[in-house]
Amino acid sequence: MAGELEQVVVELRRVIAADFPIVSEVNDHLLHMKGKLFRPTLLLLSHQAAGSKDARAVTLAAVVELIHLATLVHDDSVDHSVLRRGLPTINALFSHQIAVIMGDYLYSRAIIELVRLDDHEALRVLARVTNEMTVGEMRQLEAHDKLAYGEGAYDALIRAKTASLLSGACEVGALTAPAHFRHALARFGMLLGMAFQITDDLLDYTEPEAVTGKPSGLDLREHKVTLPLIAALARMPAEGPGRLVVAELMEAAEPSDDLVAEVIRLVEGAGGLETARQRALDLAQQAEAELDVLPPSPARDALQGSIAYAVERRS
Ligand code: IPE
Ligand code: IPE
Ligand code: MG
Ligand code: MG
Repeated sequence: MAGELEQVVVELRRVIAADFPIVSEVNDHLLHMKGKLFRPTLLLLSHQAAGSKDARAVTLAAVVELIHLATLVHDDSVDHSVLRRGLPTINALFSHQIAVIMGDYLYSRAIIELVRLDDHEALRVLARVTNEMTVGEMRQLEAHDKLAYGEGAYDALIRAKTASLLSGACEVGALTAPAHFRHALARFGMLLGMAFQITDDLLDYTEPEAVTGKPSGLDLREHKVTLPLIAALARMPAEGPGRLVVAELMEAAEPSDDLVAEVIRLVEGAGGLETARQRALDLAQQAEAELDVLPPSPARDALQGSIAYAVERRS
């Protein structure tokens, strides 16, 4: 996919180009931030694996990456994060106001491009998915009773905020393919996306920022309850000391580094990391089964490989 992905980046640059100074300044910064291009890769692989031949695939792949980029710009503002892809976030380098406006700028550019392509089906899928992502981000913000937050609520959250877009990317790649390929790839993307977000949540616990390019331990600092903590809490006695420490962190406006480190140790000790890893692997296995309906091809093999990548990656 390397050659196509280079084209995706060229398309992305074209689609976001602006002649207004601050917008083009932010665009330049964003184009310097190198991401993994996982969603466009999935779209292009789905396209090939489903036997589609749509000349718009590269542009659609750029649009999907652009929607992702817009959500990252907003997400970093919402999460008060200062580092993304190893570089300062838009809210850190410019301001929260600029991050809000730029997220809208990028998203609306994606829509303009979809309308220009006159691809109503792609527009339908991606508009629905972006709307789901906003509800996912809202679910996260509205999770108030931290210690009672359960796996069901977490599943709904990661489906909406992350897996929906990976699913949409796979589905859009296969829009011109037979319906059963398209639907299997959409389900594949959903399961893979859930495994991908669980892995992201694990990396927040386990990897330093030099590896991920994002601040580590930020989820706990931001009082975000993710699967490692949910799984650990389920194994902690109701009145035990572990729960009290977690409660202390959730009540601290700005938890200290020591408190964050202590909760990470508790989560690990209670088997929370291991349980989350196992859940990611289960989902990965379910994702793999969805590929069975596709005819054998190098693209199908690469989709299979992307499952291992999603759960084994360190950044
Ligand atoms: C980050 O996505 C946001 C999540 C859904 C976890 P990626 O891990 O794909 O980020 P980039 O695009 O490679 O930077
Ligand atoms: C995913 O959640 C964010 C989006 C889907 C926009 P996170 O908040 O965990 O993503 P990172 O860790 O900031 O990349
Ligand atoms: Mg975030
Ligand atoms: Mg994260």
